Amino acid sequence: MFTSRMLIALTAVAAPALAATYSQADSFSGHGFLSGFTHEANPDPTHGRVNYVDQTTSMAKNLTFATGDTFVLRADDTTVLSASGPGRDSVRLQSKKQYTTHVSVWNIRHMPQGCATWPAVWEVGAHWPNKGEIDILEGVNDAGANRVTLHTNAGCTMPDDRSQTGNSVGNNCDVAATGNSGCGVQATSPNSYGPGFNSAGGGFYAMERTNSFIKVWFWSRNAGNIPSDVLHGAASVNTDNWGTPLAFFPSTSCDIDSHFGPHNIIINLTLCGDWAGAAFGADGCPGDCISYVNQNPSAFSDAYFNIAWLKVYQ
Ligand SMILES: *[C@@H]1O[C@H](CO)[C@@H](O)[C@H](O)[C@H]1NC(C)=O
Ligand SMILES: *[C@@H]1O[C@H](CO)[C@@H](O)[C@H](O)[C@H]1NC(C)=O
Repeated sequence: MFTSRMLIALTAVAAPALAATYSQADSFSGHGFLSGFTHEANPDPTHGRVNYVDQTTSMAKNLTFATGDTFVLRADDTTVLSASGPGRDSVRLQSKKQYTTHVSVWNIRHMPQGCATWPAVWEVGAHWPNKGEIDILEGVNDAGANRVTLHTNAGCTMPDDRSQTGNSVGNNCDVAATGNSGCGVQATSPNSYGPGFNSAGGGFYAMERTNSFIKVWFWSRNAGNIPSDVLHGAASVNTDNWGTPLAFFPSTSCDIDSHFGPHNIIINLTLCGDWAGAAFGADGCPGDCISYVNQNPSAFSDAYFNIAWLKVYQ
């Protein structure tokens, strides 16, 4: 016999535990990335030495490759480029759907590595930077660990003291005040990015966006503390069990709801450009970035993502 009093009692008990529980809204793997995302053949706004190609071209050149449980996207690694011609063929994917508050979980086996590479897994809204940008996985030239970053318009700053495992590199998220840098958090583990990430077999990135905070977590492939809902791509996840995040951006002095609108999910790989090109020499890469990209196709044989799946929860 199930009485309404029992229901009330159950609800009262269950409510706190449900606070950070989300159900799967979308799951992308293999060919699912081809139907759920658009190849954007646009010029790179960050001035990279790339030529973003459309889906037909990308598949014909095997820069985009999908099987049941594998999705690969890569830069061309066979063509010597003319200095006066377009940049190296590469891929930029954008989700067809937009998301506001949500959790995304990425199971990534391999990410682009090598001098000149500037890969990113990120989310962005319309009228940049007014609807905000969340960079989940990003870096350049194999230098250092992953950097998680928010980019906003004026009026979004982060407190010094935050519960996160990474190190803050700037607390003002306003792109106008920071020369586009935004507010970053640098991971401490070499396994979080590039060659270190790849030699460990990749791992899992997760992002949670609510109206009161944005958090990003990372677990290396063989970490002992991967939550089982993350590891198994469960139908529902409970972020309360995920421990201290790599990056924590609270709403203390940043109204998340007004600085972040509906976001598309983007995966892109540019070469050189505003960040990787500027840091090329300082990061220990030889010569100048553009000549390096033009003349050394084989340097890009590891410049690819291999993604097992992406799941979005709401
Ligand atoms: C590629 O990713 C980075 C992510 O931070 C972004 O700044 C850049 O504009 C992106 N390029 C393109 C063409 O989307
Ligand atoms: C296309 O790329 C995939 C993934 O890297 C690879 O396994 C496959 O052999 C390639 N196909 C051809 C025809 O080169």
